[in-house]
This record gives sequence, C-alpha cells and structure tokens, in this order.
Amino acid sequence: MNSSPLIPDAPAAAPSPWRLSVAPMLDWTDRHCRYFHRLLTRHTRLYTEMVTTGALLHGDQGRHLDFNAEEHPVALQLGGSEPEDLAACAKLAERWGYDEVNLNCGCPSERVQRGAFGACLMAEPRLVADGVKAMRDAVSIPVTVKHRIGIDKIESYDFVRDFVGTIAEAGCEVFIVHARNAWLQGLSPKDNREIPPLRYELVHRLKREFPQLTIVINGGLKTDAEIAEQLQHVDGVMVGRQAYHEPWQMAQWDSRFFGQADPATAQAGREAVEAAWVEYLSAQQAIGRSWATAMRHALGLWNGAAGSRRWRQIWSDHKLKSLSPTEVAALATEARAGVARHVDEHQARHAAALNA
Ligand SMILES: Cc1cc2nc3c(=O)[nH]c(=O)nc-3n(C[C@H](O)[C@H](O)[C@H](O)COP(=O)(O)O)c2cc1C
Repeated sequence: MNSSPLIPDAPAAAPSPWRLSVAPMLDWTDRHCRYFHRLLTRHTRLYTEMVTTGALLHGDQGRHLDFNAEEHPVALQLGGSEPEDLAACAKLAERWGYDEVNLNCGCPSERVQRGAFGACLMAEPRLVADGVKAMRDAVSIPVTVKHRIGIDKIESYDFVRDFVGTIAEAGCEVFIVHARNAWLQGLSPKDNREIPPLRYELVHRLKREFPQLTIVINGGLKTDAEIAEQLQHVDGVMVGRQAYHEPWQMAQWDSRFFGQADPATAQAGREAVEAAWVEYLSAQQAIGRSWATAMRHALGLWNGAAGSRRWRQIWSDHKLKSLSPTEVAALATEARAGVARHVDEHQARHAAALNA
C-alpha cells in the first residue's frame, strides 16, 4: 500500500490485480460497456453483470458468457447458492476464459431473495463456504466473494468478521465489501444502494484483522482523491455508478493508480476514444446488431466538456437510429464543436472586455 514518490498514488511494488475495478451492474456492465471501459483503462478489473446459475445451466450460455478478448482482466459474477451448480458454473467461467469467478452475496432484490441467494446468503456463511469450496475444487482461477457489511439491523462488526472468517477458511482470498448493510425488507435495490449508511471503517478493520486477505472496498466512492485515500487502508477499490456515469475519469487511472501508461486511445484524448468506439459500433452494426444498445453505455463520454449535452442528445435521438454510427458521430461532433466554439468566443469577448 506504499506509494511511489514519483506518482503519488501508484503502488511501489506490483499492484494487486484488484487495486481498481468497475463494479458488476445489472443491465449496465454488459460486454459492450466493458469494451468501452477498456478503451479508457487497461488495468482496471471489469466485472460482468450478475448471471444466475439457473440461467447459465439451463439458458443460452453463449449469450451470457461470450466476451471480447480485449476485456481482460474480466470477472464473471454468479448469483446462486447450490454448491454443485456454482461449481458447474465456475467451470464454465474458466472454460470461457474468465480471469475470476465472483459470488454475489450482496444483492438485496426480492427476486434474488426468492431464489435464496444474494445478500440473504450473508445469514448462511456455512453454505457460502461450501459453495466457495466447491468452486475452488472445480477451477484454478480465483474464486472471490462480493458482500455487504451486514443485513437488516445487524450492525455489529462481529457479524461481517465471522462471515469473512468462515469463507476464508474455505479458501477464499479476495473479498469485495460494499460498505453498507442490505435491508432485506421494504427497500428497493436502488434505495439499498443509497439509504443504509456507509461505514468504511468496518472494511478497514477487516483488512487490519485479516492482513493476509485481499480486501476491496466498494460503495459511494467518487473522486480519485477518495480512491487514493481508501487505498491507504485496503488493497483495492471497486467503483460502480461513478465509473459508469463519468467514464472519462477512468482515462487516467492506469497512470495514476497503476504507474502504467494510459491506453493510447485515452492518451490521445476523448476524440480518439470516440473514434475507436465508433469503429466498434460499426462492427456491431455490420453483424446485424443495434449499435444504439451498445452506445447507451458511452453517453457520458464528453461529460464536463462544452457541448456534451448536444453530443449526448444527438447520440440518443431515436430518429437517427437508422443512420450508421459514423454518420451520427459526424453530426454529434459538429454539434458539440459548435457549442464549444460558441463558448470559446464568449470567453474571448469576456476577456477582451476585461482588458479593455
Ligand atoms: C444499475 C446497477 C446494477 C447493479 N447490479 C449489481 C449486480 O448485478 N451484482 C452486484 O453484486 N452488485 C450490483 N450492483 C451494485 C454495485 O455493484 C455496487 O455494489 C453499488 O452500486 C455500490 O457501489 P457504487 O456506490 O460505487 O455505485 C448494481 C448497481 C447498479 C447501480
């Protein structure tokens, strides 16, 4: 956790593979989204959406598991609780080439509770331990767990400590901890990501008490300064909504947090990232897929820059969906540049007036 003197937040030794990651997010972190994120950061670990063991064992495996080679390092997140099913799915993950399989013990949705997995598994650490052991026996890729600090009104540190301790005895070495409770009744999944209070200190304490484990903190972290601060206490930071909504922030993560050069696309600026992304969208269109499905994940690319709203409006305009991505890109760039020129002229006039 020491920093290099040259790049303040870069690790002195080889960084943990879990140093930075983008959270698994249902409907958001699909393969298109992950491809886009990879244009911005090469070292940040990416997670799939949660896939249930039932969907994998009885559904279309290719649809759930296929990914682009560029996405590595990439982890498959599973939802399930039956050790045998989890082991079978872990094998699929390994066969498909995933770098990690992660078990969801943090999702509070009612649908997930009816399936008796997700956050309610925190009440059954022995079952989770059995599942982790079955998966570890079946594969050689890392098996990790993502969980909360408690469920319902259980506020004590001992609860999460005992959970982690039990699962660690089954061989799990990496824990991703969303630093708030899951309230299993009366809150929507969205509220469950906002209302139960964040308690980072419990996660820091886990790291102190289990120094041999890799402990990754998650929940409510936004700025690079906040990430850097957390890295003083734990091995890694997982960022969810902020990374999705403000993707350009990730463009400097390789240099800042891994001490590595940012990807060429990110170094060359947002235009280059956009160009590479449009190429991807065109390839999607060429194989008969809707480019708009993929594009929705990239609508935040220009956030914070002049003209970003116009750019976003054009890319989201339903009337333009029949055009090619290259044609829409030309319109969006023109509109964005028009606003940017207007802002520049306005600033120049303002400066001239001040100097007059
Ligand atoms: C749209 C959305 C979908 C999510 N789906 C999952 C999921 O499939 N599996 C999971 O473990 N967490 C899921 N989460 C929770 C995130 O992984 C993360 O724990 C949470 O958003 C807190 O991190 P953040 O404050 O950085 O966003 C989801 C979050 C969002 C916003």
